[in-house]
Amino acid sequence: MKPKVLVTREVFEDILDYLSRYFEVTSNQSDIPINAETLASKLADKQGAMITLTDRIDTSLLTRCPNLKAVCNIAVGYNNIDIDACTKAKVMATNTPGVLDDTTGDFTWTLILATARRLSEAEDYLRAGQWDGWKLKQFLGLDIHHATLGIFGLGRIGQVVAHRAIGFEMKVIYHDVMRASPEVEKACRATFVTKEELLSQADIVTIHVPYFSATHHLIGKAELKQMKSTSILINASRGGVVDDAALIEALHSGTIAGAGLDVFENEPKFNPGFLDLKNVVLAPHIASSSQATRHKMAMLAAENLVAALTTGKPPNLLNPF
Ligand code: DGY
Repeated sequence: MKPKVLVTREVFEDILDYLSRYFEVTSNQSDIPINAETLASKLADKQGAMITLTDRIDTSLLTRCPNLKAVCNIAVGYNNIDIDACTKAKVMATNTPGVLDDTTGDFTWTLILATARRLSEAEDYLRAGQWDGWKLKQFLGLDIHHATLGIFGLGRIGQVVAHRAIGFEMKVIYHDVMRASPEVEKACRATFVTKEELLSQADIVTIHVPYFSATHHLIGKAELKQMKSTSILINASRGGVVDDAALIEALHSGTIAGAGLDVFENEPKFNPGFLDLKNVVLAPHIASSSQATRHKMAMLAAENLVAALTTGKPPNLLNPF
């Protein structure tokens, strides 16, 4: 008998075909969000699951799923999975590193350019029929070329963002818990600075750190105050890394000039205060969402699931035990 697995959200058909070669697959192709209770009951008789960042895997779920051996996230971020709880329950957890770096880096630049040049605000104005002609001082924005880009987190995605900055002839500074190797710094043309230096010097602050307790509200009221009033903040990493209420206040009061956001606290019910602001560009967590990349992410998660349940050695295991 084939092992039973659950695919919690809609995926591409060929991914299901691939999984069906190895498993008896139950899938949610109608893509109805599954709450914690339903997830636990659907997983009760399953050996594996392909999950997304909307599925929480924790002790209370794991105690109800005695047959579960692997949970494979279709995401590089895995703050939806309690890794310690998985390890205790001897459940392998995997993620999808690498395949989304370029696409997420590209989208970070989409947010940087749109925010700096006030694109959402200008388009809303045009669509509302308010444009009555060219004006010298209309929608004056921030120049990107030769500006200073401050990157929090020079990991894989931070490095992609830094590489793209070379074309704009920018000065790149970064801060991270660990300083990058001289080779990486050279390739990225990036200079290590303190958190305070980054905040006070950058024209654009962009965040590329994972979310966990140490990065909770990495950017809050105090940090926003240290930024230049002409600067912009970009977040395509995870909600919770930025204190959204403090950011809304900073955008209202002119503490900083603008923000470009793909992620929020409490997604999808984000703080409605953002909707009253003109100086913000908002996207619904789509930084990795190109056709090719979302397919690669789903395939990598599927390969992790197959490897986990056939060899016990998935390529992207987060919790060797
Ligand atoms: C990730 O991979 O962590 C992304 O946020 C998913 O879109």
